Amino acid sequence: MTDTLTRIALARRPKGLPEPEDFSFETSALPEVSVGNVLVAVTHLSLDPYMRGRMDDVKSYAPSVEIGGTMTGQGVGRVIASKAEGFTEGDLVTGMTGWTSHAVLPATELRKLDDSLPPSTALGVLGMPGFTGWVGLKEFGRPKAGQTLVVGAATGPVGSMVGQLAKAAGMRTVAVAGGPEKCKLAVETYGFDAAIDHRAYADAGALRAALAEAAPDGVDIYWENVGGKLLEAVIPLMNVGGRIPVCGMIAWYTGLDGDGSDRLPALWRSVLVKRLSVNGMIVFDHWGRFPEFVSEVTPMVANKHIAYLEDVAKGLENAPKAFISMLQGGNTGKQIVAL
Ligand SMILES: NC(=O)c1ccc[n+]([C@@H]2O[C@H](COP(=O)([O-])OP(=O)(O)OC[C@H]3O[C@@H](n4cnc5c(N)ncnc54)[C@H](OP(=O)(O)O)[C@@H]3O)[C@@H](O)[C@H]2O)c1
Repeated sequence: MTDTLTRIALARRPKGLPEPEDFSFETSALPEVSVGNVLVAVTHLSLDPYMRGRMDDVKSYAPSVEIGGTMTGQGVGRVIASKAEGFTEGDLVTGMTGWTSHAVLPATELRKLDDSLPPSTALGVLGMPGFTGWVGLKEFGRPKAGQTLVVGAATGPVGSMVGQLAKAAGMRTVAVAGGPEKCKLAVETYGFDAAIDHRAYADAGALRAALAEAAPDGVDIYWENVGGKLLEAVIPLMNVGGRIPVCGMIAWYTGLDGDGSDRLPALWRSVLVKRLSVNGMIVFDHWGRFPEFVSEVTPMVANKHIAYLEDVAKGLENAPKAFISMLQGGNTGKQIVAL
């Protein structure tokens, strides 16, 4: 067992897309474990789009990372020392470890995992992103057989869960993804009925024409992961009574896709005229249903009724590079870092 802790800290607040210099690599001695706590050696770290928001100093639904503070994030690892009842050396656990090799966490903030599926699944398909898609679709999407769903970032852990569950509910499913490879995966791996490469269309109008062809009966659920050009393209295609669970808007996290401010009146008019249900959703509000998700979806993953893909970067030192790449669509599947 190494006695050094390595971690990635926030060195400065990024402007737009983060740069490697916004992060620093720090080392220190392993922390002591006090009563009620557990020392975890992290084996897998989750990289998620929300982390970009934590790098800004703005009021949100969760606190920002301080300058010099460890980048926030969920990890999976093995207990290497425990002063908490119910946890012993070797246990596989998950919790908010941050971007670090080791973390001391209160036992109350850890969840034990079994070894039946790869540990990294607790960060993606069977973790926060998979749960986001599952709970948001049930609560706000309300899938109906014969209707049509469109989702962007469709091969990521949220979009692929939404697409597969909507398909299982009898919907026509249309993926929007970046590049021909991801579009192929959307259809072949995740069973989408059609897939559109948003990078192939220069503007919202051209993207809308492609979407209209893929969704000839209009769109009943637009699962919002992306914002930007896709949102602008899809709104005029929404059917009366359509649902828009607003889960994320990654195109705007780094300010790379315009701000859409001149479209506000048209958007609001559509919400009124088409009686759209637009629901902001944050996964934290729904944790009470997490056990139900785990018991329903674990067997579906185990028997391959739900497919998942992971993109694994090797080594904590490569986390910033993998994170910056993910924000631009460089990941194929759930972005993990294996330590
Ligand atoms: N509300 C919540 O509680 C909650 C919880 C989890 C996640 N989320 C949100 O859900 C969304 C998906 O998360 P995820 O973990 O599944 O991420 P992900 O799909 O693994 O990764 C992000 C993807 O976004 C796409 N993207 C990036 N820039 C884009 C742009 N300008 N236009 C269109 N697509 C772009 C890229 O896919 P392509 O290459 O296919 O374009 C990229 O791979 C994110 O917005 C995230 O913030 C929200």
